[in-house]
Amino acid sequence: MRKKIVAGNWKMNHGYHEAFSLFDALLEHKEDFPSDVEVVICPPSLYLSEFCQRTSAHIQLAAQNCHFAADGAFTGELSATMISSVGAKYCITGHSERRMLFGETDEVIARKVKQILSTPLQVIFCCGEPREMRDDENHFAWVEKQVKTALYELSADEIARVIVAYEPVWAIGTGLTATPGQAQEMHAFIRSVIGEKFGNETAAQIRILYGGSVNAENASSLFQCADVDGGLVGGASLKLSTFLPVIKAAK
Ligand code: PGA
Repeated sequence: MRKKIVAGNWKMNHGYHEAFSLFDALLEHKEDFPSDVEVVICPPSLYLSEFCQRTSAHIQLAAQNCHFAADGAFTGELSATMISSVGAKYCITGHSERRMLFGETDEVIARKVKQILSTPLQVIFCCGEPREMRDDENHFAWVEKQVKTALYELSADEIARVIVAYEPVWAIGTGLTATPGQAQEMHAFIRSVIGEKFGNETAAQIRILYGGSVNAENASSLFQCADVDGGLVGGASLKLSTFLPVIKAAK
């Protein structure tokens, strides 16, 4: 049985006071979280250390990004080791905003995946096709290349610490969501690509989250799909009133 994850990716939102009051409000509602769902918050990294000190077992913390090098002269960057040392459990990499707005290639992301896994962190690896790839029916080939470049060099121990997030670019922040059928089809495909390299047992264990305009209305139909193991949620994770129903929908 794969334990579902609902992860809230706050991106570059919420000042210090708003962030802490939302986090504390979530902690106050921890009894409402379904017991078989792992709740993860990905705040701006500035808040990670304090959030980690505040959290109970009920909320895990993730960074939204890290550098691909272990350390060195990279002004303004954070290393995976630093993120791990303050108590975070996960680090996201491969998000389409990093790919598109910060020029991160599949190769850069592959280096980040390796770097993250050289620490105790687990990786949330994002992949997904732009609209035109789906329109041209190239979406499977596109995602296959992203998955293979980032994950095929990993060892068996490393792949066991990977969570995949399928996030079609056209669905992120747009209000357009993949249908449960589209999500299920792609998740099953990603699982088969992982299975080809690492075997069916590993593929059956890896968690694959869906991301892209997940909200209270669509979450339960997406999360009920056989190969959808929860969600990576942006906009709807920014308020308790919109995030709590998504967490509950993963039951
Ligand atoms: P969204 O963002 O839920 O606002 O579409 C998802 C994400 O980018 O992870």
